[in-house]
Amino acid sequence: MPKKQTYKGVGGRISAQPRLHQRAREIQTYGTVSHALPLELEEPVRLEMAEQLNQLLADTMTLRDLYKKCHWQVAGPTFYQLHLLYDKHYGEQVEVVDSIAERIQLLGGVSLAMAADVAETTQIERPPRGREEVPVQLSRLLDAHQVIIRQTRKLARRASELGDDGTNDLVVSEVLRTNELQAWFLSEHLVNVPLVEAKKPSVAAGAA
Ligand SMILES: [Fe+2]
Repeated sequence: MPKKQTYKGVGGRISAQPRLHQRAREIQTYGTVSHALPLELEEPVRLEMAEQLNQLLADTMTLRDLYKKCHWQVAGPTFYQLHLLYDKHYGEQVEVVDSIAERIQLLGGVSLAMAADVAETTQIERPPRGREEVPVQLSRLLDAHQVIIRQTRKLARRASELGDDGTNDLVVSEVLRTNELQAWFLSEHLVNVPLVEAKKPSVAAGAA
């Protein structure tokens, strides 16, 4: 006769009730690095890189969310074009965020994740809750890109000095390149060129 199968829950009690509302101590504190994978990178290097990458992460998450705010709140004759462009850049920043966060975990660190922690850490100026006109939206986004681009160059050089080529490559190939390209696309919208009628050359310029 087959043995009767029994299912025991936590503490040996048999129950179909899920264990809800559980809490426990953290398994790793923020600001520390854990395991040493066979990466050939010493703990102080991984600690410093994780810290700097978390700053970059907080700023990138802020830029990502700023893009969504602009996507929702944009107004005016360029609504359709910018509504789409902002969302395209948002999607690209989502991927950058994931790459930075996973690099921190790979180095043994702990990635920032929650909005409140990001808000406390970011260096990017907080916009108002209300809607702003297009030139202001574009300027805020460009300022945010500038903060990130400045940081990436510094971080890439430091990673290279410390022998962390993986971080250097991620920061240059993915973060810096994406931000440079997006900044170009935005900047071209702030060039004041005629929309319908070309400016006629002045008489003086024509005579010269
Ligand atoms: Fe949308």
